[in-house]
Formats: sequence, structure tokens, C-alpha cells
Amino acid sequence: MKAFLVEKYGDQAGMRAAEVPDPRVGADDVLVKIHAAGINPLDLRIRNGDFKAFMPYRLPLVLGNDLAGEVLQVGSAVTRFAVGDAVYARPDKDRIGTFAELLAVHQDDLAPKPATLTMAEAASLPLVALTAWQALVERTHVQPGQKVLIHAGAGGLGSIAVQLAKALGAHVATTASTATIDLVRELGADVAIDYRTQDFTKLLDGYDIVLDSLGGDNLARSLRVLKPGGTAISVAGPPDPAFARELGANPILRLAMTALSAKTRYQAKRLGVTYSFLFMKASGDQLRELTPLIDSGRIRPLVDRVFPFDETLQAMEYVEKGRAKAGKVVVSMT
Ligand SMILES: NC(=O)c1ccc[n+]([C@@H]2O[C@H](COP(=O)([O-])OP(=O)(O)OC[C@H]3O[C@@H](n4cnc5c(N)ncnc54)[C@H](OP(=O)(O)O)[C@@H]3O)[C@@H](O)[C@H]2O)c1
Repeated sequence: MKAFLVEKYGDQAGMRAAEVPDPRVGADDVLVKIHAAGINPLDLRIRNGDFKAFMPYRLPLVLGNDLAGEVLQVGSAVTRFAVGDAVYARPDKDRIGTFAELLAVHQDDLAPKPATLTMAEAASLPLVALTAWQALVERTHVQPGQKVLIHAGAGGLGSIAVQLAKALGAHVATTASTATIDLVRELGADVAIDYRTQDFTKLLDGYDIVLDSLGGDNLARSLRVLKPGGTAISVAGPPDPAFARELGANPILRLAMTALSAKTRYQAKRLGVTYSFLFMKASGDQLRELTPLIDSGRIRPLVDRVFPFDETLQAMEYVEKGRAKAGKVVVSMT
């Protein structure tokens, strides 16, 4: 099959298209013929080698973390899928490889594709929708009426998180650039702050939850808009000790992760709020919970551009250079 490989960590020069063997299908696996694959900043970080310490992939590696497609074959223990089913998934972090014609995905990581979406739309969702779900439902249990700040509301993650927070009944503020302010209002944001001309810390106060996807100073400043007892979750800030434990990291890595987040956790403690890092996980069950929200139109995918599969490297470059105006970039095999 044809696939896009990382042969050497670093820039795009370390990637190429290649013919590779078809995947092996284990008893619990579903072989998916991929129709479309979403591109995520995570693909660029993996290609760069940024996550070598805690995601030690063997090179060459087929890249890609999101898919939509059709079931071609099922393993002997698969009970929930049949040949011909339309599906979507973020495969487990140890079994990525959606920039390819085929992928074997564990049945627990897969879900039926939302019926109202095209393959390209469905492929834009799993990683970001699961991240939003894990931040707002699993971890912080957002309740109706709570005040939630979602940073970068026009981005791949932010656009879904804003819609999910609204669907949960929250009062939602978001940050976006001048060109996308109207768009984030259309997505449902109650308060839209232009991060280029306005300072969110001067406009927001008493928030219950912040979802940060920028890290650094943005995260530090976000802690100040929370009310006492509030929660900041970052998907881009420093990893915390709980994440190190979850990973089963060795003592050195655990110490390093504890040290990296010490300042943020101290700042949070002084303000009477909590900080935690989130690295999303694959989950077919959570995708099944999201599907009704998608099919009822309460969460709609935001796709900036669809590239043909053969142009996967150009699509990655488009994402890397920040050319997308809003939402996700997808490659399509059909
Ligand atoms: N840990 C995890 O599990 C996890 C999961 C998902 C995503 N992430 C991380 O979260 C980040 C965002 O992911 P994504 O898929 O949403 O990326 P994306 O689609 O590239 O979106 C990034 C967005 O950030 C906006 N932005 C840039 N600077 C900003 C600022 N100062 N304030 C507010 N918005 C700003 C951009 O808007 P303009 O282009 O208009 O400026 C753009 O809309 C990435 O670093 C990704 O790796 C982590």
C-alpha cells in the first residue's frame, strides 16, 4: 500500500511517500480502507521528534492520527463492526499511521462514522473532538451555566471545544484573531475576544474552567481569570506529575515532568486554582457519545481545505506554515 513515512526526525526532508506492506490484522483489529485523514499539529511534533522521550516510535514510521473510512476486514474477536461499515477513529498513540491506504485499528478505538458527515468531515474530528470531550466532560464535568474560556476558538481543537461547551450549557468565552472573530461567534461563543487587539485578562473574571492550547504566557495569564477553586487544563502547557504516572514514565522522566510544571502548579496554588495537563487518548466509546451531538448539528466540523492524498506532504506544509484560516486540513483518498 502507499503511505507517507517519517524516515528521519526533523523537517519535511525526513519524510517521503513509499510502498509499504499492508497492515497485519490481529484478533481485535478492524482493517480500515482509509478514505480521508485529518492533519493535526501533533503530526508535525511527532515528525520533528519532539515527543521522542515519551512516545518512542521506531522509524520508519507511517504518520497520521485521524481517519475516516470503510471496514475491509475484521479480526476473529471483533464483535462491533462488519465489512462495509463506515467508521472514524483516532487510533491509539502506539498504533498511528493514517497517512496510508489501510490501517488496522483496535475495535475499541473505532466508532461508526456520523451519518450526516462526509468522509473528509469525519476525518477532521476524532483527535480534536476527543480532546474537547476529555477536557470538558471527563475531566472537568462542565455544568450548565458554568463559565468556560476556550482559547483559540477558530482552531481545529478550539472550534469543536467551543461548540461542545455550548452544547453542555456553559457560558463560553473564546479568543481568536481579527479575521475569525465573527466565525467564533457563529460557533456559539458568548464572548469573542480578539487576541491581537484585546487582553483577555482585562475582560474576563470569575471563570470556572479554562482550556488552554497555547501554553507559556497564555497559560500563566489564564490562571488569573479563574475564580477560586477553578480549573485550568492545558494541552500545550507543561506536563504534570499525574501525566508522568499515567505514562508509566521512568523516574528521570517523571522528575523532569514534575520540574517542568512546578512553576505553573505553584502559580495555580497561590491563586487557589488547579492546573492539569491533558494528553488525549483514543476512545471509540467517547466517539460514540459525540456522534449524536454531531448528527444533530450541535457540533459541526470546520474544514479549511481538503488536499488529495498524493499531496499529503504539501498539506502538512500548509498546516505548518499556518495557512489555514480556521479549522482543520484533511487529505482525501477519493
Ligand atoms: N495534548 C493533546 O492531547 C492535544 C490535543 C489536541 C491539540 N493539542 C495542541 O493544541 C494546539 C492547538 O491545536 P489545533 O489542532 O487547534 O491547532 P490549529 O488548528 O493550528 O489552531 C491553532 C489556533 O490558534 C490560534 N491562535 C494562535 N495564537 C493565538 C493566541 N495568542 N490566542 C488565541 N488563539 C491563537 C490560531 O488562530 P490564527 O491562525 O487566526 O491566529 C489558530 O486558530 C496545538 O499545539 C496542538 O498540538 C494537544
